[in-house]
Amino acid sequence: MSRAKISIIGAGNVGATTAHWCAAAELGDIVLLDIPQVGDMPKGKALDLMQASPIVGFDSRIVGTNDYADTAGSQVVVITAGIARKPGMSRDDLLSTNAKIVGSVAEQIKTTSPGAVIIVVSNPLDAMVQRVLKVSGFPPKRVLGQAGVLDTARYRTFLAMELGVSVEDVSALLMGGHGDTMVPMPSCTSVGGIPVTRLMDSKRLEAIVERTRSGGAEIVGLLKTGSAYYAPAAATAQMVEAIIRDKKRLIPCAAYCEKEYGVGGYYVGVPIILGAQGVERIIELELTSQERADFQKSIGAVKELVAVMNALPL
Ligand code: NAI
Ligand code: 2OP
Repeated sequence: MSRAKISIIGAGNVGATTAHWCAAAELGDIVLLDIPQVGDMPKGKALDLMQASPIVGFDSRIVGTNDYADTAGSQVVVITAGIARKPGMSRDDLLSTNAKIVGSVAEQIKTTSPGAVIIVVSNPLDAMVQRVLKVSGFPPKRVLGQAGVLDTARYRTFLAMELGVSVEDVSALLMGGHGDTMVPMPSCTSVGGIPVTRLMDSKRLEAIVERTRSGGAEIVGLLKTGSAYYAPAAATAQMVEAIIRDKKRLIPCAAYCEKEYGVGGYYVGVPIILGAQGVERIIELELTSQERADFQKSIGAVKELVAVMNALPL
């Protein structure tokens, strides 16, 4: 059986680290692409990563390039191209620059890898994935965004730290846009099967929810030169694995919702089944009245962002 082909566009922090996690998990052969202005940087990172393979023990051909011809026929394409946040910037400040960048990337992918599933990572996420859908012309089930796996992982990490338990025993869900209005769902959060609300009081839980909402900004404030990449890349690699290995993972991703949750044609974080076909199903949950209100607020923020983006030229 031939290996899967995974292309990662943008060989910066998130892109190169996604290549690292994908290679270590032996998900397939990897192409790491960046713009000609960065020269041979993607080639250098690819070669360096391949030289780790005898030590770590993975078989993966990793190629760095500035040429889309090398990405042709990819099964999965990950878009991390764009600028990242610096202190004082919100994800939304990246809008106009990154809209142009992801649009140009989507233009290339639609001809070089017409059968691919595209995972968008560039920010502001919910708007960027909408732009990629429009420019690529791909069916919505083959274009999705990474945010919920990361945000849920942050929430799970903070809960495990607070309770002094293994992260493996914390199961949780987070919905909505990838911004300050994201909606952690205490009703869908459990630890070893025990509802989280039976293990901590609402004040402690609310503090963790707040820390999760500003989890990206917390890292930006510490790094000062850019934004998080280890966890975002691990989250992206988990999505790549779900597609390559047709795992049917039930995870939160930014998926195109038309009738679902009454969203009306926008990308927003919802629980989905992710497999070889991309978004195989969107799971519609009965929300509590508070969750519904928070989710509506989050959709409102996504719609505002998309309206600003749609006023920009394609
Ligand atoms: P970075 O600056 O380290 O890397 C970005 C790379 O994109 C650079 O190497 C740059 O040369 C490249 N690039 C720029 N224009 C390009 C083009 N037209 N084609 C191909 N490559 C191009 O940034 P980092 O930290 O890797 O972040 C990348 C993006 O991911 C940012 O927009 C960031 O906000 C976003 N992000 C999203 C997360 C999420 O959960 N959705 C989490 C973390 C980051
Ligand atoms: C994050 O959440 C910046 O979106 C990026 O870390």
